[in-house]
Amino acid sequence: MRHGEQPRVVVRSLSDERPTLAKRVLLLPAAEQAEAARYLRPDDRDRFLVGRLLLRDIIAAETALPLNAIILARDAHGRPCAVQDRRIDINLSHSGDRVVAAIGRDLSVGIDVEQHRAGIDFGAIGRQVFTPWETRLIAASGAAAVAAFFAQWTLKEALIKALGRGFLDDPRRLEIRPSDAGSFRPVFVGSDPDDVGGGWTLVAIDCGDGHAGALAFRPRPPT
Ligand SMILES: CC(C)(COP(=O)(O)OP(=O)(O)OC[C@H]1O[C@@H](n2cnc3c(N)ncnc32)[C@H](O)[C@@H]1OP(=O)(O)O)[C@@H](O)C(=O)NCCC(=O)NCCS
Repeated sequence: MRHGEQPRVVVRSLSDERPTLAKRVLLLPAAEQAEAARYLRPDDRDRFLVGRLLLRDIIAAETALPLNAIILARDAHGRPCAVQDRRIDINLSHSGDRVVAAIGRDLSVGIDVEQHRAGIDFGAIGRQVFTPWETRLIAASGAAAVAAFFAQWTLKEALIKALGRGFLDDPRRLEIRPSDAGSFRPVFVGSDPDDVGGGWTLVAIDCGDGHAGALAFRPRPPT
């Protein structure tokens, strides 16, 4: 990956990974195997394990480090980082049957996937997260409103994850609007109190049936 290139994105299916998971887990450090054992639900545990292996796979492809030599740490906000190459930024998301990851050199990257789920109070959650314009956009999608809800959610969440702080003071101050050529841009309602800043590229990513996904990235100076 050379400077100025786009991040690399990999989408994996939990059900495809399961048959080889028990063997591949042995490649992970004991601390991560122990972290996985703390999950009560097998699906949550497996999504975590597939994510850890996926992060190592994409770092190995980028750096040529052997898989079992790669050291992952978390920053103060819990965000994973590649200890041996600080120019690389990585991010991960898992939901339903998908685990997705992004890697970029001299970029900040954020990625999000959400399974289209029913049985959620879309109105109540939407009121806490979406601007009036976003709410109208989702409502106008009619029968596709669930897909529109998660599409808008993942775009916003991918940007939040690229920022790395874990949340925005008020996500309704940040509106995600269509931009050029199928991409999106953040627009601030009033001001930019969370210091999100500019220069972002936001795109939807194809995560397959029943899942929405999005990627956010922008250049960052080497640290
Ligand atoms: C981590 C966070 C940003 C997303 O969590 P989530 O949606 O439940 O789960 P995802 O699968 O998308 O992401 C989890 C992964 O993100 C990574 N992560 C952890 N902390 C992170 C952070 N601060 N920033 C970015 N990525 C983070 C980890 O790899 C984690 O997976 P792992 O623990 O298995 O390694 C969480 O802090 C959150 O949900 N914050 C609220 C954001 C918000 O306000 N959303 C509403 C508006 S859209």
